[in-house]
Order: sequence, then structure tokens, then C-alpha cells
Amino acid sequence: MEKKIAVLPGDGIGPEVVAAAIRVLKAVGKRFKHDFEIAYAAIGGAAIDQFNTPLPEETIEICKQSDAILLGAVGGPKWDHNPPELRPEKGLLQIRKTFDLFANLRPVKSFPSLLESSPLKKEVADNVDLLIVRELTGGIYFGEKKRTEDGASDLCIYSRKEIERIVDNAFELAKLRRGKLCSVDKANVLETSRLWREIVDEKKAQYPEVEVEHNLVDSVAMKLITNPSHYDVIVTDNMFGDILSDEASVITGSLGVLPSASIRGDSFGLYEPVHGSAPEIAGLGIANPAATILSVAMMLQYSFGMKEEAAEIERAVNAVFEDGYFTRDLATDKEKALTTDEWTDKVIAEI
Ligand code: NAI
Ligand code: MG
Repeated sequence: MEKKIAVLPGDGIGPEVVAAAIRVLKAVGKRFKHDFEIAYAAIGGAAIDQFNTPLPEETIEICKQSDAILLGAVGGPKWDHNPPELRPEKGLLQIRKTFDLFANLRPVKSFPSLLESSPLKKEVADNVDLLIVRELTGGIYFGEKKRTEDGASDLCIYSRKEIERIVDNAFELAKLRRGKLCSVDKANVLETSRLWREIVDEKKAQYPEVEVEHNLVDSVAMKLITNPSHYDVIVTDNMFGDILSDEASVITGSLGVLPSASIRGDSFGLYEPVHGSAPEIAGLGIANPAATILSVAMMLQYSFGMKEEAAEIERAVNAVFEDGYFTRDLATDKEKALTTDEWTDKVIAEI
């Protein structure tokens, strides 16, 4: 198969972890006989420095001509005092909006060899395999904001269509997984939540193979750390999803192993690690590339339908951990930590 991928390395450790992930992608291409064509483009601080905008037209054009986007991370102290229009994060928000990427997928899966790094008890963090599906382009973050003399307000609006498309997406994903969907809301107090709940119940008939539960967000916030293995797919709105996905990210113990995808219901998508640009370790060659490598696996699965290839990357990453090889962030014996490139070589050797 021939696929074109837009690669946006960004700032800080972005270029390092992206380079590692592209090496793994090439190894998969060689082994499974796929032709991956790569087109590099600028985003974030790097784009501000070069083009005086966090998301140049040229980058949008390159993404439009591609089948998927791989992104590193954006931001750093160099741009922290820039005006709002010239902030690196603006590039990220704009790209999600330009391509209408309304569903953010964050899988959290425990690696048996990393249980020591989890703040949770081993037996709680073990056997976790969940996927948070967060609505990304609507809700309170995008509603009208007002400041009055005696206070302030943020409006939360969801259209039926916005809820239907994210809920459909979550049902489809649950079908491909263990067939369990937990819809999270605050239907006891919020009208948008009551509509959300109604739509999930309407849709249920179309997906008889999926078992559905409704849960209030405060209760899920507790259960997510007391019994995370209970969950398969969790679907929720923008703000609840933001908070719950960060909460869930600590279960496995390291930001350096968490991938994400932002999709829109067709095969196009944007794939990126959950972590940021980690400026304090940028350029040292010690960043953990696992999250970006696993983001490539998500790309193969969700955008290209390459299930076997995606599973092979996950298997290889897990095998390298099992063999006791870690980058600095995860190594208990820092002396024995591998560099970004050394660790990536181990993954490629597995593949
Ligand atoms: P961060 O995720 O960059 O770093 C948090 C901590 O985790 C740091 O100690 C860092 O060294 C470590 N870390 C993160 N990724 C790692 C990896 N792959 N390997 C080893 N260690 C890793 O978050 P922080 O420090 O809050 O933000 C730093 C910059 O990144 C800021 O400018 C922020 O705006 C930006 N950022 C960008 C995001 C994106 O591009 N999607 C997301 C989050 C933050
Ligand atoms: Mg967040």
C-alpha cells in the first residue's frame, strides 16, 4: 500500500521523538512492503521563527495532500511571552479546527514491565486497557465568554449533530474492542448532559453488540483510579474528557508512553504523543520515543486499516520493555538507561 504522511516535528523533543518514530515506520514499511511517503512541514515555535505564524499555509497544504498527520510537540520558554496569535499552541488548535478533528482518542494500556512506575497499587494498575473518546471541538471551551462588572460566564453549547457524531464514533470503536461503552456526563445538573444521555440511548439500538452504561463524571473520576480495568471505551464531552484523560494518564506511570489520535470519522487523522515538548531535556538525545512510536501504531490502525502492522509495533515496544531496556525517564538504574536512538534500535530489531 502507498500512503502519504505529513510530518510536523515541532519544538523541544518533538523533532527527536518524531525522527525515532519515522525510523520505526520505515522498518514496518520494509517488513510489510508498504511505501510510506513522508512530507515534512513546520508548526509551533519552529514555524513562528521561520514564517512568523504557528501554522503556515504551506503546512496546511501539505497536510491536505496527505493521508494522515504525525506531530511531535509544540511550545517552549522561548515563545512563552509572545502575543496570543504568535503562541505555538495556537498552531495545534488551528490544525484541529482546519481539519475538523472532533474526536480525541487516548488509549491507556498498562505494560506489565512498567507497573513499578505507576503511583497506583500494582494490582490496580495491572490489566488496564481503556480508551477515552473526548469530544474536541465543541462545548464550554468554545462557547461565548463574557466578563461583566460583577462576574464572568462561559456558555456550554452542544448541537445534536455534534453529540451524534462523537457518540457514533465511540460506539464503532467499542465494537472493534471489547464491546463496552461508558458514557460520562453530569446529567443530574446540566442540560447538555441530559441531551447527551438521550442521544446515547437513542443510538443504542443501532449497536446491539455494545453494552452501555451511563455514569456521572464525579463518580468516574473516583473509579478511574480505584478500578481502571473496569473500563473499555469511555465517551465524554470536551471538558470532562480533558480532565479524565489527564487523570487516566498517570495510571501507566509515564507520560512518555502515551499516544493519542484526533480523528473525524473518515480515515484522516492527526497522531501525536500526549506529552509536551519537554524543553529541559531537548537536544540531549534522552527523550522517550515510545509515545510517538505508539502514535504511529494508532495511525496505521485507524487511518490505514493496517491492524497487523499496528499490533506488531505494540508487540515490539512491549518486548523491549520486557527485556529490561528503558530510556532515562523509566530506568530504575539511570546508568543503564538507553538513549532515544539506542532504545529505538531495539524496537526496530524486534520488528
Ligand atoms: P511536558 O509533557 O513537556 O513535560 C512534563 C514532564 O515530563 C517533564 O519533566 C518532561 O521532561 C517529562 N517528559 C515529557 N515527555 C517526555 C518524554 N518523551 N521522555 C522523557 N521525559 C518526558 O509538559 P510541560 O513541561 O508541562 O510543558 C513543556 C512545554 O510543552 C510547554 O511549552 C507546553 O506548553 C508544551 N506542551 C505541548 C503539548 C503539545 O504539543 N501537545 C502538550 C503539553 C505541553
Ligand atoms: Mg489537558
